[in-house]
Formats: sequence, C-alpha cells, structure tokens
Amino acid sequence: MPYRRTRLSKFIIEDQRRAVAPEPELTSLLNDIQTACKLIAVAASRGSIAPANDVQTPAVQTGVNVQGEQQKPLDVIANDVMVGTCEWGGQLAGMVSEEMEQPYEIPAIYPRGRYLLVFDPLDGSSNIDVNMPVGTIFSVLRCPEGVSQPELEHFLQPGTAQVAAGYAIYGPTAMLVLTAGDGVHGFTLDREIGAFTLTHPGMSIPADSNEFAVNVSNERFWEPPVRRYVDECVEGAAGPRGADFNMRWIASMVAEVHRILLRGGLFMYPRDDRDPSRPGRLRLMYEANPMAMIVEQAGGAASTGRGRILDLAPGSIHQRVPVILGSRNEVGRLVKYHAEYDAGEDAPFKTPLFNARSLFRTA
Ligand code: F6P
Repeated sequence: MPYRRTRLSKFIIEDQRRAVAPEPELTSLLNDIQTACKLIAVAASRGSIAPANDVQTPAVQTGVNVQGEQQKPLDVIANDVMVGTCEWGGQLAGMVSEEMEQPYEIPAIYPRGRYLLVFDPLDGSSNIDVNMPVGTIFSVLRCPEGVSQPELEHFLQPGTAQVAAGYAIYGPTAMLVLTAGDGVHGFTLDREIGAFTLTHPGMSIPADSNEFAVNVSNERFWEPPVRRYVDECVEGAAGPRGADFNMRWIASMVAEVHRILLRGGLFMYPRDDRDPSRPGRLRLMYEANPMAMIVEQAGGAASTGRGRILDLAPGSIHQRVPVILGSRNEVGRLVKYHAEYDAGEDAPFKTPLFNARSLFRTA
C-alpha cells in the first residue's frame, strides 16, 4: 500500500539503528541534505518561471567559478541552498563545493560537528537551459579527530574514507540515490507529500552491458586503449566483441550514472592530452569519489584506467581525474587495455594500421 512505503527519513533512521556504531548526527545531516535536494528540485522544475532562474535576466549574481566555467543562476541558487540548509544543524565542521574556491567555514554562530560535506550543487548544468536532467552530487567525510576548524588538508581524504555518498537527479521525476556503505537505494520524490519515497531498494549494476557513454567528439585526444575499446564497440557484431553496442551521451554525469544503475553500461570521461595540467574533466572529490562509491556499492567498478578511483590520494580539493565506471566486466576490459598498452602488448594498435582506425571509418 502506498502509505506504507518507506520514506527516506525513516529509512535513514532505521539504517542507523541497524549499524554497529550508530551515528545520530549522520541521520540529521542526511536529512538536511535531502531537504536541500527537495528545494533544488523545486527550483530546477520551475525553470525560467522563477525569476531567479531566468537565463536572460537572472535575479541572482552569477560569475565564472573556480573551474573557469560561467555559472548559471541555478548553479548559484543550488550552492546557496546546500550551504544554507546544511550549515546550521551542528553536524558539519566544514564544506567544499564545486562553486567555491576555498572550503566553506561554518559560521561561528552555529555549533561545529564531526563531518565534512563535499558537493557539486548542480552537476551537468549545461543542461539547464535545454530542460534536460541535472543533479546534485554529495560525499560525506569524517572531520579528523580533534579538528574543529578544518583546513584544506583535512578534506583531502581518499574515497575509501567516505561515510556516505549520493546524488539527486532532477529529471521527469526527482530521485535521491544514497549509499551509507551498505548497498545503494533509490528514492523517488512524491511531490504531493513532499517526501523522497523508497522505490528502488538494493540497486545493482549488471556485470555485463552493451551500452557505453563517452563524448566521442574528444576522440582525437584519447589514449590508444580508450580508442581501442570504443572502436571495438563501434565495430559491433562484425568486430572483435562479436556484438552490437549502443551509445548514449546526456552530458550530465548524474543522468549517465543513474541509467547505469538501472540497466548497466559504461560511462567514461577518460584521460586526454588536451592540457597536461588537466588529466581528466571530472572532479575527484565531489564527482568521481561519490559516484565511485555508489557504483562499487551496486556491484560495479570505477577506475581511472590505471587504478581504483576510491584509492586515489587527493592532492587538491578541485583536482580532476580520468573516470571510467559502470558494469564491472566492461570497466575490467578497459583496465586490461590500459595495462596491455602500458606494457607494449597491444601490438595491433601500435602499427600504422591503428592510425587508420577511427570511429567513423567507412571501410
Ligand atoms: O562538469 C561535469 C559534466 O557536466 C558532467 O556532468 C558531464 O558528464 C560532463 O561534464 C559533460 O561534458 P561535455 O561538455 O564534454 O559533454
């Protein structure tokens, strides 16, 4: 019966009750995060009807963020909502956001707590103006013992240290997908009662898939193992994979990961050689790490091509990394191709023939 369905607030409380060492502060923090996501869902769904979101004459101040990207009004609104909804409750010692160059200090009027919140308030924001899915990605870390005023270095923890991770997707329906290290569970926003409701318990990624997502316009910048993988997929049933593949590119990581959680697949924004200071496009701490935790918890895999994402030691809060994630056998294949390439064992791809291989060759 619908009224018997589990709401996210109840799910989080019951999850903590089952925990060996329950953390009540985590319950309240996750509740504040879900409130923030509901507010952002409403703002996103109103589009240009809300004067603040109006792309022509935004009622909020936008600028160029630390990534060098032009902010959209909704980027700014989503960031303000996350900060304002999560700063006061006493669970956080600090926050890092894609939209803020430096870590955010919890104002002195509020108590400080034992967690650090790292987030991308509005992922895929180039999709806002065209009414396509966007999302919020978050990662919860512990503040090191004895630290009440965290410095930059205290945020630089590997993905394996995450206490919880999740995302909200704002599409035809809004959903929040969460892991606290015990599986991945999806909640759909029931707008009539304003509650995220458990609809997708125990999400699990199939080990195999014939669907991949990558921005093919970057092909010329990729490394040979990535070209090899994509070329083989494009060759379909006639090629070495012996099967036809399908391709998707929504340009919103949240939407790609969501699809992969529901039906499998591979998503990548691999290393490219456009700019040596930027080994990838996606950000480690608030994009790659939380998504890698979710994907692994759902039985998938997440790698740079040369190592597990969750094992990386971050060097800076806005660090970028290559990302390959999804169905574990497909990720495993790409990892193998990288290893073969590094060991000089992928002979066919080192011959001049390789140069003839292209996604769009006709013969
Ligand atoms: O900045 C992150 C992001 O918007 C991801 O959500 C998405 O996968 C990617 O960038 C899109 O990149 P591109 O503009 O190359 O398609």
